[in-house]
Amino acid sequence: MGALATAVRTRHDHHLRLIQARATSDELFQILRDEAFYERPIAERHRVIFYLGHVEAFDWNLLGQRAFGLRRFHSSFDQLFAFGIDPVGGGLPTDQPGDWPSRAEISEYKLHLRTQLDSAIDRALEHPSEGHPQLLTMLDTAIEHRLMHAETLAYMFHRLPVDKKKPVQTQDHWSTSRIQHRLVEIPEGPATLGLPADDSRFGWDNERCALTVRVPAFSIENHNVSNRQFMHFVQNGGYRERSLWTSEGWAWREQNAIEHPVFCIAAEIFGIIGHVCGTAFADGAAGLCKPCGSIRVCKVARSKAAERRAIHRAAYGVPDSDEQRGYPWGEQPPAPQFGNFDFAHFALRRAELTLTV
Ligand SMILES: [Fe+2]
Repeated sequence: MGALATAVRTRHDHHLRLIQARATSDELFQILRDEAFYERPIAERHRVIFYLGHVEAFDWNLLGQRAFGLRRFHSSFDQLFAFGIDPVGGGLPTDQPGDWPSRAEISEYKLHLRTQLDSAIDRALEHPSEGHPQLLTMLDTAIEHRLMHAETLAYMFHRLPVDKKKPVQTQDHWSTSRIQHRLVEIPEGPATLGLPADDSRFGWDNERCALTVRVPAFSIENHNVSNRQFMHFVQNGGYRERSLWTSEGWAWREQNAIEHPVFCIAAEIFGIIGHVCGTAFADGAAGLCKPCGSIRVCKVARSKAAERRAIHRAAYGVPDSDEQRGYPWGEQPPAPQFGNFDFAHFALRRAELTLTV
């Protein structure tokens, strides 16, 4: 295959993946009943309606504006839906449902910008010299951004009452074979997080400025803690046993009268018997570390930052060396057999609430 044909093929694959990512986010929003779109399931976040516009405006601002220089057709929406950041200064957002545009207006905006973007991408498909020189990276960014939001929206939708969502028809029934847990010893060594500021590879803004730290020796389990294990912890009184918690975690539990992870559900949901746990850090610090009396990652992870460093050290450290691997599995580029890249298998599954114990 010639260079031109390869370039066209590569662009075509990216366009296809963008279309698939749109289908994923569209399908996720279809779970919600009309009245749910103006809810704010998490106090610190925007109302759901913001994200409906945000995933589209992000693509438009990045691709429509920067990659193709297309003419703006709805500047106020481009700006309104541009940023999904937490409120500044620790306060909670105070906007009201009436402050936001209607779904019909956002749908119109979405359709119009997708049509324009698709024809610009189609033109660039046939003429690889068209569009920004970094077009493929920009497409990758748009795809990853949308799928990241699909995942975070899925856990936001968990927080909505069941009657705000529509039943999902599915025959899926997840079950896994029983796994053998064991502890793996990780020797003391370095962990480097993030990319150097001048690294030309793509990185999100919070991944810049590499930081190398020494991580003390610790043990970590070979598998994630399972829903079954966490359910046992809850059922055996883990949320009433002060000695299992850090001072900060216990204060948080007391203050909020927490009796189980915030969306740990064991009930019949949409006709499916399911059991799902999503834990906050404090739940995890207590529940994952002590119920079996073993020394787990929490021995060095007294904070989220320490936990990240320890997990990074376990994933990237080369045994008996201060070297670090390019990827947790070695140096080969990411591929489906190494992990769930592009969140391909996860977002909708989470939304369906059908994990089984
Ligand atoms: Fe975003």
